[in-house]
Amino acid sequence: MSAQILKSLGLDPVNSGTYLGHGEWSKTTDAGLLQSINPSTNEVIAEVHSANASDYETIIRRAQAAFATWRVTPAPRRGEAIRLCSDALRTHKDALGSLVALEMGKSKPEGDGEVQEMIDIGDFAVGLSRQLYGLTMHSERPGHRMYEQWHPLGLVGIISAFNFPVAVWAWNSFIAAVCGDISIWKPSPKTPLSAIAAMKICNDALKAGGFPDLFFLFNDAGTELASTFVDDKRVPLISFTGSTRIGRIVGERVAQRMGRSLLELGGNNAIIVDETADLKLAIPAIVFGAVGTAGQRCTTTRRLFVHESIHDDVLAKLVAAYKQVEKKIGDPTDPKNLMGPLNSRDAVQAYLDAIAQAKAAGGKVETGGAAIEGKGNFVLPTIITGLSNDAAIVQHETFAPILYVMKFRALDEAIAMQNAVPQGLSSAIFTQNLKAAEAFLGAAGSDCGIANVNIGTSGAEIGGAFGGEKETGGGRESGSDAWRAYMRRQTNTINYSDALPLAQGIKFEF
Ligand code: UN1
Repeated sequence: MSAQILKSLGLDPVNSGTYLGHGEWSKTTDAGLLQSINPSTNEVIAEVHSANASDYETIIRRAQAAFATWRVTPAPRRGEAIRLCSDALRTHKDALGSLVALEMGKSKPEGDGEVQEMIDIGDFAVGLSRQLYGLTMHSERPGHRMYEQWHPLGLVGIISAFNFPVAVWAWNSFIAAVCGDISIWKPSPKTPLSAIAAMKICNDALKAGGFPDLFFLFNDAGTELASTFVDDKRVPLISFTGSTRIGRIVGERVAQRMGRSLLELGGNNAIIVDETADLKLAIPAIVFGAVGTAGQRCTTTRRLFVHESIHDDVLAKLVAAYKQVEKKIGDPTDPKNLMGPLNSRDAVQAYLDAIAQAKAAGGKVETGGAAIEGKGNFVLPTIITGLSNDAAIVQHETFAPILYVMKFRALDEAIAMQNAVPQGLSSAIFTQNLKAAEAFLGAAGSDCGIANVNIGTSGAEIGGAFGGEKETGGGRESGSDAWRAYMRRQTNTINYSDALPLAQGIKFEF
């Protein structure tokens, strides 16, 4: 199965993880070897060679040369290049979706869904290539015109996480490409194969269409090159997805050199279920939000606030649903399974530690609470009650399927608890009460970047801006006007009169 997936995507047992441009993959073999591990079995799927410092310099040099021509290529023509990428991804959706399931561990439908997200952002980027609008302003001076325009920024550095091993790259690189930028990708060391496969698909499509190199890739077995990348003044934007701990370091270092960073960090997302909620919607949304991708989305539902009058009923329904999901935990490449493994042994340990900490703080495990014996990193989806929102473990993002269920009496109290965490990514309310929904969405409501009514916290569409507040990092990617982060704004004032009036009425006569 695994060999077949690799073969269909042109991957070998040992691969170069560095695309140097000009159709050339690095031949470096002495800079460290990454192992892609199948989280269902802990067996090696294939190996990937890291880049060395000279490869990195080649990438930067070639990316700079590519930028010099790409920035003056008309944006709609740039969109044409991305159209070829989304078409190629349509062709390879099944194979790439399977590889994502195999290497990352998410279910096959979710792996395919991730590739669909790449296709969708590609289509969005094509449309956007004719809509990189600037504003015009009325000048205070007669015979003057003011407007703003958006120019390409340069090289965009993308550092992505294991949980969305291909989609987050596409969010960034496809939008960056229509904006006139060249992107350089450093993927997670846990999912190098998915990255190589995505690069091959897109680069082959660009080459066949006669387009230049727009996307470069390097893998790093250590942290030295990634660190050089973050500090590199030749890379004006670093888009980083990952933990708050590392994101804080990246943000500080990029700011130190006056670069831009786009940070997509941790979430501690909650759903509020009030006494009017339609449980036919709420229960499946909570289960998908908490258990989907085995709790490894940054938008995973980690906390649930239920009105006290329906708390026991909701809890019983959730426990029953979790028991059904338990029957469908297994090999993620088998489409009948709903939940795959955690991505690593360390993640299983973090899951077990969190449960132990929750119990020590007085939490009660209602269902789950244990790892599944065997070769893989499978765990049971877990519900814990009896903790307060300010318990240290509830405040912490554990990247695993653990849901803390808490009661509330009044909506204000639920909103206050939902906001009382360091993170601010995604949030949702289930209600049929218009006032409750509007209060949740209002200025004194949810403080998150994403706030939903009668849908869950995860599975955002690409059309909106994606990202969050507080320790989530403040960045916005994907849809809406997130493209602006990948361009530089220029304000232009043109004088078509015969006089030179100064702004603010200043006189400067000599
Ligand atoms: C992430 O987990 O890093 O909203 C991104 C979602 C996805 C993206 C998640 N569309 O679940």
